[in-house]
Amino acid sequence: MSKKHVVTATVNGEETEFLCEPRQTLLEVLRDVLELTGTKEGCANGNCGSCTVHMNGRPVTSCLVLAVEAEGAELKTIEGVACGGHLDCVQQAFLEGAALQCGICTPGFIMQTEALLAENPNPTEEDVRFYLAGNLCRCTGYDKIVRAVLTAAVKRRASGEPCSK
Ligand code: FES
Ligand code: FES
Repeated sequence: MSKKHVVTATVNGEETEFLCEPRQTLLEVLRDVLELTGTKEGCANGNCGSCTVHMNGRPVTSCLVLAVEAEGAELKTIEGVACGGHLDCVQQAFLEGAALQCGICTPGFIMQTEALLAENPNPTEEDVRFYLAGNLCRCTGYDKIVRAVLTAAVKRRASGEPCSK
């Protein structure tokens, strides 16, 4: 076994220290060390998007990031999206729009949607389909997901979300 490294990062607003081997991915550490199991493993090779988290404000597929690369980074996972004990409008729109079935892809879609709306608060359907093209879903057929994202965009513009966590 290789020597473990100490990594310090901010995870969902809290300074966090963890030990990891140089070969371990950020996905493995989030799930197996930090017990943040909301981030899902689909393919483990960068193709499905279900492991998407934010690193320094940008969406990344955490199966392709080494945990040691997170040193000093700001990380946000699906566990950091709800605010004040309430689902945010993206989560709420997925729930109300039945934009999920098995749910394995859902955290990744939500993290990618959060990044989209931060970049472009008023996306067209084409913008949504383009931005979410790296996230795969084997269950829903995508239409309900796209509609949920467009609904969330409208609600977010009206509410002034997200919170600053
Ligand atoms: S698990 Fe990372 S992209 Fe599929
Ligand atoms: S809801 Fe099952 S893979 Fe998307």
